[in-house]
Amino acid sequence: MVAALGLSAQGLEVPLYDGWLFSRDHVTWEAVSVPHDWAIGGAFNETNDLQITRIMQDGETCEQRHTGRTGALPWPGRGWYRRELRIPEGTQYAELVFDGAMSEPVVYADGVEVGRWMNGYNSFIVKIPVATKSVEVALNNPPASSRWYPGSGLFRPVRLVTGGATGLATWGNWIRTTSLTADAAIVEVTTRLRGDANGCAVEWTLYAPDGTIAAAVRAPVSGAEPGRDGARPSHNCASGSLKVPSPQTWSPETPVLYRLETVLKKGTAILDGRKDRVGIRTAGFTREGFFLNGVKRPFRGVCLHHDLGPLGAAFNRSAFRRQVKLLKELGADSIRTSHNMPAPDQMDICDEEGMMVMAESFDMWMSPETPNDYSRHFKAWWRRDLENLLLCHRSHPCIVMWSIGNEIHENDAMAVRDVAAQMTEMCHRIDPTRPVVFVTDRPDAYTASGAIQVTDVPALTYRLPRYGFMHEHSPIGLVLGGETASTFSSRGCYHFPDKVFVNAEHADGQSSSYDLEHGSWSNLPDDDWAMQDDHPWAIGEFVWTGFDYLGEPTPYKTYWPSRSSYFGIYDLAGLPKDRAWLYRSRWNKDSPTLHVLPHWTWPGREGRVTPVYVYTSYPEAELFVNGISQGRRRRDPSSRLDRYRLRWRDVVYSPGVLKVVAYDAAGRPAAEKVVCTAGKPHHLEIAADRTQLAARSPDGTPDLAFVTVRIVDERGNLCPDADLRLNFSTEGAVRFKAACNGDATSLEPFVKPTMKAFHGQLVAVVEPQGLGTGALTVATEGLPPVRISLCVK
Ligand code: GAL
Repeated sequence: MVAALGLSAQGLEVPLYDGWLFSRDHVTWEAVSVPHDWAIGGAFNETNDLQITRIMQDGETCEQRHTGRTGALPWPGRGWYRRELRIPEGTQYAELVFDGAMSEPVVYADGVEVGRWMNGYNSFIVKIPVATKSVEVALNNPPASSRWYPGSGLFRPVRLVTGGATGLATWGNWIRTTSLTADAAIVEVTTRLRGDANGCAVEWTLYAPDGTIAAAVRAPVSGAEPGRDGARPSHNCASGSLKVPSPQTWSPETPVLYRLETVLKKGTAILDGRKDRVGIRTAGFTREGFFLNGVKRPFRGVCLHHDLGPLGAAFNRSAFRRQVKLLKELGADSIRTSHNMPAPDQMDICDEEGMMVMAESFDMWMSPETPNDYSRHFKAWWRRDLENLLLCHRSHPCIVMWSIGNEIHENDAMAVRDVAAQMTEMCHRIDPTRPVVFVTDRPDAYTASGAIQVTDVPALTYRLPRYGFMHEHSPIGLVLGGETASTFSSRGCYHFPDKVFVNAEHADGQSSSYDLEHGSWSNLPDDDWAMQDDHPWAIGEFVWTGFDYLGEPTPYKTYWPSRSSYFGIYDLAGLPKDRAWLYRSRWNKDSPTLHVLPHWTWPGREGRVTPVYVYTSYPEAELFVNGISQGRRRRDPSSRLDRYRLRWRDVVYSPGVLKVVAYDAAGRPAAEKVVCTAGKPHHLEIAADRTQLAARSPDGTPDLAFVTVRIVDERGNLCPDADLRLNFSTEGAVRFKAACNGDATSLEPFVKPTMKAFHGQLVAVVEPQGLGTGALTVATEGLPPVRISLCVK
């Protein structure tokens, strides 16, 4: 949303976090808070949504037993949520705003159906009678309705909005920068109203980040909202233009937000009001590329599914913010919300942290990806879904383009063209400020039908050999890497020899962190970068994926146990894989990168060739094993694998010290990195991403702390193969919420306060329970326990 940050004289917006009852059978109920994912605590089992199917786009030739395709958790089936409502006396209007409900939600007020939706990811609004005393939401997740873990339940916030008979409509403020120079920006605001607003006026005041008034304007309620259908009342809208002197612009590097206060008045009486954050920026494509605030930049982006690893799909602001911060640390500047509508809170956080967004809508249209997916509802619902996506999110500065679909697989290419044209028309009508992309794996058929040409920018998934073709047919002369890489790796795992593997399945169910494994349809990061560096019209990428996610355990699609992806730059716990430094070496312009792999603890490999790779932003480096130089290396632009990595492929392992010295452009030593052979596990190290937690964030959800535990030897070296069982206990104001070790083959439930470490590390998540101080203690057999104090405010 343009986040409603405050309350008005009349209007009230309350997050419905506590007080819910949840049932899977409508007979026994348990108390829960919302956001809630009913399946994430469940036991993993290969029979949960077992899909016997053929995935054609992965080149499968026959039906196979896809065990962990949707996470192997018990998300399919029905579920119900109930809650009492206390609507203030004198209220004349009430609605419930759902930021998403998985899936097919039917909403009842005092037992009477008041609204329903189909798409589990989308935000929707249900008007309810002001006398409502209780609300119930029925949900239904058909099996075989997803290609990944969808989550289940009221997995995004629910809010109660109340007010007078006339007021500001939810999602009614449309704020956009229409002109920008160093001297002044024009910010246009259109405010939609509900009820009879004849004779009313709207006042807008824009505050600069330092709290001073940057601009103010007032306008009578006068006309119909532009871009919406004619059926709406004509006096439902007011528009104003704010001229902002010396604007401070929003960008990933400078996520400056102004604050807009909107007040609805009749005479001198205030009827309603709200606060929104405003980012002043322009964004768009020319034939030269993508420009933000007039500055050309490539996309350094990642695709993200909606789940938050061990928290499942239940949205939590601090968990998502952690993801965004980790991505920014790589130098990433954009996210694609693959392949669904984002949660409004996600977009708020992208605004705040400075992360551009390709906001996506659908993973399929009429033709199913799985038998019971949204394609069953597409024809009847896509207009409502796309409209809600646009209305709910169009004021976010972070969103720089809309995606009308991912890899749409329809045989009738002409039908695809027609739908693409209709969708693009709707996007342009409701939001003329942003381009529309269509992310496709069918460049030939959809170019021939014209489907691609009716959108603004073509975006390909993989298919580097077709980039040239796409460039020739691109209406704007550009090609976006809508989805790139799909390289597999498991944190801390290395397979020898270090060769390129396509669709390889190893006996241990893991993929190698030499970062040389990919699907037959996909490629290595190096291949994408060569394309971008050699062709200025290849304008950047969205890597599949920023984080591992639940489900789609490719290449271990039929291997059990395996229940989460291997694609992530970070693992499911949010711990970096080696690939994080590879991307960082290219993307992060703020600080240099120097990383060496693999680890150097290989009992039994003495005397054997153990290749060493260095991911660095420096032009040259020298490797030493126990003080003996293995030679200096520079990048070799003529070689696929040496253009962006430095490799020493003939190093012979002997325990001790692996050291890399990086040299700057003038050949001077600039940095060094040392990895030592680790001894026996000696103690645990513990560190939290934060030690101060807020009991409540603006949407009502609590902050979480992510605590990383490392098993180290006496000198503090990570024991890279340690898999000790760690046990968690909490005291005081915090309690244990979940743990995750990043091992896609682990069947240990996330919610039990015990888990084995994976390659020496693991992340535990704790949440507040009350205010004051608390602590997490981690214990393991044979080593002293460690404890970290946390404070809840
Ligand atoms: C793409 C698809 C993604 C994911 C990926 C795996 O084709 O769009 O959702 O399945 O492949 O490589």
